[in-house]
Amino acid sequence: MTQKRSSFTGKIGFVLAAAGSAVGLGNIWRFPYLAAQYGGGTFLITYLILAVTFGFALMCAEIAIGRKTGKSAIHAFSDLNKKYKFIGWLASIVPMIILPYYSVIGGWVSKYLFLSVSGNISTAAANDGQYFSDFIAKPFEPLGWFLLFMGLTAVIVLFEVEKGIEKVSKIMMPVLVVLTIGIAIYSMTMPGALGGVLYYIKPNFSNFSFMTVLAALGQLFYSMSLAMGIMITYGSYMKKEVSIESSVHQIEIFDTGIAFLAGLMVIPAVFSFSGGEALADKGPGLMFMVLPQVFNSLGGVMGNVLGTVFFMLVLFAALTSSISLMETVVSIFRDKFGWGRKVTCIGVFIGCLLLGIPSSLGHGPWASVEILGKNFLDFFDFISNSVIMPIVALLTCLFIGYVIKPKTLIDEIELGGRKFKNKPLFVWMIKYIAPVFIVLILATSVLEGFGVISI
Ligand code: PFF
Repeated sequence: MTQKRSSFTGKIGFVLAAAGSAVGLGNIWRFPYLAAQYGGGTFLITYLILAVTFGFALMCAEIAIGRKTGKSAIHAFSDLNKKYKFIGWLASIVPMIILPYYSVIGGWVSKYLFLSVSGNISTAAANDGQYFSDFIAKPFEPLGWFLLFMGLTAVIVLFEVEKGIEKVSKIMMPVLVVLTIGIAIYSMTMPGALGGVLYYIKPNFSNFSFMTVLAALGQLFYSMSLAMGIMITYGSYMKKEVSIESSVHQIEIFDTGIAFLAGLMVIPAVFSFSGGEALADKGPGLMFMVLPQVFNSLGGVMGNVLGTVFFMLVLFAALTSSISLMETVVSIFRDKFGWGRKVTCIGVFIGCLLLGIPSSLGHGPWASVEILGKNFLDFFDFISNSVIMPIVALLTCLFIGYVIKPKTLIDEIELGGRKFKNKPLFVWMIKYIAPVFIVLILATSVLEGFGVISI
């Protein structure tokens, strides 16, 4: 299918669009609970090191592949070498797995927005946020919110009104940053919060484990929208005059900055309300249990207003991400089968509903069903972040390092006589360090996931 490729107007346009896809629930919902679970400062430092080395190299590579070929993942790989089209295919499976469960969590955010709007933040805050566990255990209500969020995403993609949403989110995003900073400062000054601040920013290597690295690596892919073909597509829309290297720096700063702030907002508050011991066991519910307590501590009206503004901003961040996920899935099917836009959107919507239902029910009526010891949502999260994405990243590195050779992409990055400042890092990461590292991580995680070893 040949469609005219539009392109981003300039660097700012590109960076904002890519950051719109990158910044989402991964930063605000996923990062804080992983940091809480996997050693606080130890997780933070591991993540930061991976981001500036591995994340940097892989994001440069994906954007360069996209811009060089002007195609999205599947065609981009086959353009560079026909035999390796399968890497593009494998990458394309990831958004199909993520979108359904992403929408389940988008549904939870919608519910919390509704709770705040209707003046019920105190209900959500009561008993250390117990409301959340009761809510996700219900059979139908979370399903309804999931349907709403998924439906909203589908309608926006169907009527091609993403541009409108993106415009709004360009205003919302900076507001989200400011509000997050404000809430983080407030959280840090609550009684007893200091222990949380220290836990979060001070590495304590007795907390370090293999799982810290695995979780940080999976989070890196997820948060920066890597190893799933998305950045290749974004790169294909990037103008040749724009610098890939400095764009990547800016996206990374934006994405990591918001994740860092989200952690500062949530973790000190946990220490203040329920002490450090409560950190690990809240898991994916952490944000939903803790933030209502923060808002509620501001007093009735103020708490509800702040909750409303906050959850609305998070909802927008989640929507820009779910739209980019759905857009990707839709275009894969359209390219492959030549289907019309409407039919494809409806088909993808139905498919996602079917795949999302187990993730939603897995906390309630289907809680007893486990795959590899995990509920459905955690299983989908594990398969995409800890299995398929590392495989895609590994194959991408090997493909660049040994098939098309790093020079092919370096030329693209250096186009117009630009200097690629971190070229040695790029080459070393892609050819040697990343592949060895991923093989180690992957082998261990798969063996652990299947219960062969325990770490
Ligand atoms: N990076 C997004 C987040 O952190 O929430 C998740 C995501 C969005 C992944 C869009 C992929 C994507 F296409």
